[in-house]
Amino acid sequence: MLKNREIILGVSGGIAAYKSVELLRELTKRGANVHVVMTKNAQQFITPLTFQTLSGNPVLCDMFQLLMGSKIGHVTLADIADLMVIAPATANILGKIANGIADDFLTTMVMATTVPVLFAPSMNVNMWESSFVQNNVEKLKAHGYQFIGPIEGDLACGSVGKGKLADNEEIIEKIEDIFTQKDFQGQRVLVTAGPTLEPIDPVRSITNRSTGRMGFAMARMARRRGAEVTLLTGPHYLSLPRRDIPQIVVNSAREMHDAAMHYFEDCHIVIMAAAVADFRPKAILEQKITKRKNETHILEMEKNPDILKELGEKKKNQILVGFAAETSELMEKAEVKLKEKNLDLIVANDVTEPGAGFGVDTNIVKILDALGKVKKLPLLSKDEVADIILDQVVKLVKMKEKGRPWPRNW
Ligand code: PMT
Repeated sequence: MLKNREIILGVSGGIAAYKSVELLRELTKRGANVHVVMTKNAQQFITPLTFQTLSGNPVLCDMFQLLMGSKIGHVTLADIADLMVIAPATANILGKIANGIADDFLTTMVMATTVPVLFAPSMNVNMWESSFVQNNVEKLKAHGYQFIGPIEGDLACGSVGKGKLADNEEIIEKIEDIFTQKDFQGQRVLVTAGPTLEPIDPVRSITNRSTGRMGFAMARMARRRGAEVTLLTGPHYLSLPRRDIPQIVVNSAREMHDAAMHYFEDCHIVIMAAAVADFRPKAILEQKITKRKNETHILEMEKNPDILKELGEKKKNQILVGFAAETSELMEKAEVKLKEKNLDLIVANDVTEPGAGFGVDTNIVKILDALGKVKKLPLLSKDEVADIILDQVVKLVKMKEKGRPWPRNW
């Protein structure tokens, strides 16, 4: 997404300026060519040399510094850039830009550019909440400037509250979001993720190796493409894919079933990446099972509801995407699930393959549709896999909109 993008990183004078060094590294790691522009105050916190060394580009600080021969620096850069991100953005820089003041390189460049500009503010909580700053933020938003953060947390001034620079991951997610075509606008998508947890007694449970990574990637990419996403997940240890994705956390398959039925009516697309337990202990013991008297212990299990199958029976014109986690006869078993559960697409992953399935950041999948067409993907990151699955889903959305015939009911 960021490969070969020309990004201007504007740094203004706040204590969070040191964090923009790491932001620069993350952006360059993803293949972006970053040009740093610093205000005079920013140079009190960090030196241009640090940014120059890490970006491999000259750092622009001086209004009258010329770039590329005789051209005017701020105009040249503003022309070649794909995006400007100002992190940290102080109250001062927001105030100047909101009121049309262009008295240094950074503010002049913001006026001169036509590319998207993203502000990541950072300041004391009272400054952020002051009517001066809030009015300026509103003014900037009205002009089409975008914002990420600030977030709540411990602030450098010793207070706690909203004023902390957004995490680099969030800033980068927002940049990638800005570059992404919104082909899922208007689509409500329910994504399931993670394992389920079936209690045995007050201290034990049965679960599986799903971490939620695949489902979280589906949720993140669908939201990035403009969908309104609800994430229904089993217990997990991941950080939220995005703040603007509501998350419903459940434990057991039956809880996931009830929540899925609740959200189903109102959504256009369901993507079930969760690893739902097929069986649960028939009885949940009130007391902890003890080993004192027994050498063995038999656990009687009963079937859990098949959520996706039930959704397949209920479906009117929704698009249903399932996953199949298999250890043998991948395509045969996936095909049976596609038909039995009345799905439009099934994503088959052989979880015995290195780099595929549970717990890793990558996957190797085959996407099978209701016409029998198969798309085989190589080892890719789960984000990339999710994006390709969504490409297939969007084709179905378009077919549905055009009223084209399809073997599943719409
Ligand atoms: O979470 P990660 O660590 O990233 O791992 C990713 C993954 C391996 C969990 C994921 O890629 C995956 O394959 N998810 C589906 C796992 C699974 O339960 O597969 P299944 O073949 O048992 O089920 C088929 C489909 O029916 C799935 O969409 C499943 O969500 C659904 N199902 C299964 C059982 C059940 N009782 N109800 C269901 O709805």
